[in-house]
Amino acid sequence: MPPHTVTTTTPPGPHLPAVAQTAALLHDPVGFLHRCRHRHGDVFTTRVVGVPGLVYVGTAELARRVFATDRDVGRAGEARRDFLESLVGPRSLLCLDGEAWTRQRRFLGPAFHSRHAQRYREQMAAIAADHACRWPLDKPFALRPRMQAITLEVILRVVLGVRDSDRVERLRTLLPRLLAASDSGGLLALLPTPARGRLERALVRLPGSPVARFSALLAATDEILYDEIARRRAARDRDGATDVLSTLLAARDEHGSEMSDAELRDGLMTLLVAGHETTATALAWAFERLVRHPDVLARIGDGDGRYLDAVARETLRTRPVFAEMPRVLVEPLELGGYRIPAGWYVSPAAPLLHDDPHEFPAPHAFRPERFLADTFSTQAWIPFGGGRRHCTGSQFALLEMTAVIPQVLAHLRLRPTDPAPEKVRIRNGTLAPARGARVLAQAR
Ligand code: HEM
Repeated sequence: MPPHTVTTTTPPGPHLPAVAQTAALLHDPVGFLHRCRHRHGDVFTTRVVGVPGLVYVGTAELARRVFATDRDVGRAGEARRDFLESLVGPRSLLCLDGEAWTRQRRFLGPAFHSRHAQRYREQMAAIAADHACRWPLDKPFALRPRMQAITLEVILRVVLGVRDSDRVERLRTLLPRLLAASDSGGLLALLPTPARGRLERALVRLPGSPVARFSALLAATDEILYDEIARRRAARDRDGATDVLSTLLAARDEHGSEMSDAELRDGLMTLLVAGHETTATALAWAFERLVRHPDVLARIGDGDGRYLDAVARETLRTRPVFAEMPRVLVEPLELGGYRIPAGWYVSPAAPLLHDDPHEFPAPHAFRPERFLADTFSTQAWIPFGGGRRHCTGSQFALLEMTAVIPQVLAHLRLRPTDPAPEKVRIRNGTLAPARGARVLAQAR
C-alpha cells in the first residue's frame, strides 16, 4: 500500500481467542512471533488477555517509528505500571511518563555514565571470581542461578554500596524471595483495575495468600532500604564511596533540591528489578552460546576487550532478554499502512529485528565478529530498547557481562551437558535458557 494512503484498518493477526494467543506467547514467544510475521507480515495484531490489542512490528524502520512515539503518543510507563508499580513504587521511572518521568530519569540516568566504571569493573570481577571458585566440579549444574547470585551481589555492593555484612545477608535472602513473590502476584495485574484493587485488599488480609506474602516481604525489604538511606544520609562523607546510591544522594535537580527518601527507595528498587534478573539471564545465555562455540571461547582467551564486548552484543542479538518493549498509545497511530487505535499497545519485536537476514547476514550463526565491522547497523539491534525510554543501565550491563565472563573462564573449563542449543523459555519475565544453561565445569 502506498505510504500516503489513509487507512482505518488495524493490522492483521491470528484469529485464535485471546487465551490461546496468550498461552502461545508465554509458551514459545520467539516461535509465535516468527509464525505471526510469516503469516501476517511486518506489522501484526495479537490478542492478549487484559490488553485491548497488542501490535508487534518486525523491522528496524518500523521499530524506529514506535520508539519515536516516546516524544508524543506513546506511554512506556503506563504499559508497565500494572505489572511493576506495586514492587518498584509510584516514583519509579519504569512506571512514570511525562514530567514526572523526566525528573527521575535526570536523577538516575547520570548515575551510570559514571567516572567510576573502572572501579565497578574491578568490583564485578572480584565478585565473579569469588563465586566461580565455589561452583561444583565434574557434575552438571545450571549456570543461571549462579549468575543470579552474582548479579544480586553486584547490586548490593556496587549499586547500593551496602557494607554491613548483616544487612547484605538479610537483603541477599529477602530480595530473591520478594521478586519471586511479585511474580505470582503479577497475575492479578491481568484483571481490570477496580476488580484487582478489591481483590488485593481482600487477599492482603488473608495470611498465607501470595498477596499477603508479597506485602510482608516488601515491608521487610523497605525497612532495610529506608534504614540504609537514613544511615547514609547521616554519614555523607563516606570517603571515596563510588556506589550508585552515593551518586544519587549527591544528585540535585535543576532547583538544587535532592531526591526524597521515597524517591531514593523507588530508585533503588527500580535498579534492582531492572538490573538483576536481566543481566543474569544475559550472562546465562552468553555461557550457553560460548560452550557451544569453542572457536569463540578460544578467541576470548586472547584477552581482546573489543572482542569480549562483541561477544556480549552478539549474545544479546541472538538471545534477546526481552521480546517486547511496549508503549500504550494515547492517540491513534498510523504505522506501516495501518491505523492502530488509542488504548492499544504497540511494540517492536526484538527477535524479529535481530533475525532479519538483511540486517544480520546468516542471522542464526553466533558470530561476534559482525560487531567488530564498521558496517554493523545499530538501528536493528534493540536488546536495550530505544527512543527516550531506552535502558538506563545498558552500559552497566555490558560492563558487568564483560567483567564476569573472563573471570569465570579463567577459573573453569566449561562444556555443555548436551550439544543441542537450549530452548527459549520465559523465566521471571525474561527470555531465558529452558534448562538454565547447564554445563559441566573442570578446574583450570
Ligand atoms: C542485559 C541486561 C539488560 C537488558 C537486556 C535490559 C533491557 C531493557 C529494556 C528492553 C528496557 C526497555 C526499553 C524500552 O522500552 O525502550 C529497559 C529499561 C530499563 N532498564 Fe534495562 N536492561 C538490562 C540491564 C539493566 C541494568 C543493569 C539496569 C540498572 C541497574 C537497567 C535499568 C533500566 C531502567 C531504569 C529502565 C527504564 C528506563 C525508562 O523507562 O526510562 N537495565 N532495559
